Amino acid sequence: MASTCVVGLQWGDEAKGKIVDILTAEHDFVVRYNGGANAGHTVVRDGKTYKLSLLPTGILSPNMTAVIGNGVVVNPVKFLEETAQLRQAGIPIGDNLLLSNHAHLIFPYHVEEERLCEQGNGGDQAIGTTGRGIGPCYMDKVNRAQGIRVGEMLHPEHFLERLRSILPRKNAILKALSPDARAFEPKALCDEYLGYAQQMKSHVCDTADVLHRALKDGKRLLFEAAQGSLLDVDHGTYPYVTSSNSSTTGVWSGSGVPARNLTRIIGIIKAYTTRVGRGPFPTELDDGPEGLGEKIRKTGREYGTVTGRPRRCGWFDTVAVRHSARLGGVDELALMLLDVLSVVSELKICTAYEMDGQKTDVFPGDAFLLERCKPIYETLPGWQTDISAIRELKKLPPAARRYMDRLAELIELPVSIVSIGPDREQTIMVK
Ligand code: IMP
Repeated sequence: MASTCVVGLQWGDEAKGKIVDILTAEHDFVVRYNGGANAGHTVVRDGKTYKLSLLPTGILSPNMTAVIGNGVVVNPVKFLEETAQLRQAGIPIGDNLLLSNHAHLIFPYHVEEERLCEQGNGGDQAIGTTGRGIGPCYMDKVNRAQGIRVGEMLHPEHFLERLRSILPRKNAILKALSPDARAFEPKALCDEYLGYAQQMKSHVCDTADVLHRALKDGKRLLFEAAQGSLLDVDHGTYPYVTSSNSSTTGVWSGSGVPARNLTRIIGIIKAYTTRVGRGPFPTELDDGPEGLGEKIRKTGREYGTVTGRPRRCGWFDTVAVRHSARLGGVDELALMLLDVLSVVSELKICTAYEMDGQKTDVFPGDAFLLERCKPIYETLPGWQTDISAIRELKKLPPAARRYMDRLAELIELPVSIVSIGPDREQTIMVK
């Protein structure tokens, strides 16, 4: 039976949520396998805009069961906030939402730890994170002795014992980071979280088992990656990455479903490039308030869904995307926000880098090396006409077709979906 993964091939914010939303009709389960409430997914449905950070966007479809897999890090406050918001908007939330008992819990001390680490040393070691406690929570998961899973909240005595053993060390670490650090008290934190557990427990289960049974019953799974592949902790621009496997490499570990079940992997690419937070970005248009970078930012409304930070904007980088497409085993591409480029008269595509005087088309998976890469561009004419009402490929202006075809050629994959606006209808299915 067909299972699909939708994965971003750049630094996140490629508009994956829209494609997931379109694909829900063909699937029974939607699964998030990495990250937490650092993701920002915007979906426009029937004229309403939904912004989700933690819950899979597929939850908006009544036919789907939405799963938060074991690879996700869960802040209960965000979980309850988002479910309440959806209920208010008339989206039913009940046994259609499952939360892995093995997902790790984010606590307020994770958020505090991140804040202190990001501002430490005058901020010179900052990653530019979303401030949601994601990194410290994954650190505790790998550390083992300090990590607490969702399922542990359902056993009050055990849960209190865990917090009692963890918090002295955690408080000492926080104090060492800053004398003004907040301190956390086990009983108070335990009571707070047991309150959340009461409201969440009906969703908690062994989701890996549920997914295996679903596969056996011939159900179709849709995996929804958060962030983009270039932020993958192993394969992205380390250390300026997130703390999880945001490429398709995370599917297996983050859900318990073997990757061989994936029969369709759709790589989502934005028609240009954006990045939030720090880290190298060879094709960045850092050309001031009157420059093209700002024009693209304004036209594409490129501001972070989670933090509201302006996204850095730049030209399309085929060296970076070819790297993430190969890494992710991608079969086809969905080209998003092509309409935004209508405001640009001449388009540049990065086809290779110059690094230390040598031309290369290999993407270095280290930030310090990528910083030394200068983009080599080819230039294509723009189309400078509104394309947002076009519904057929053959009606796209020839320059837009040429741009799309050239990207496909350089990435060595076909484009199967073109998006020319936020609405579902503003989508061209190539095949
Ligand atoms: P963290 O995931 O909050 O630890 O942040 C690490 C890096 O990933 C920072 O550069 C963030 O801006 C970036 N990041 C995290 N989530 C997203 C996302 O959903 N879209 C784009 N960038 C993200």
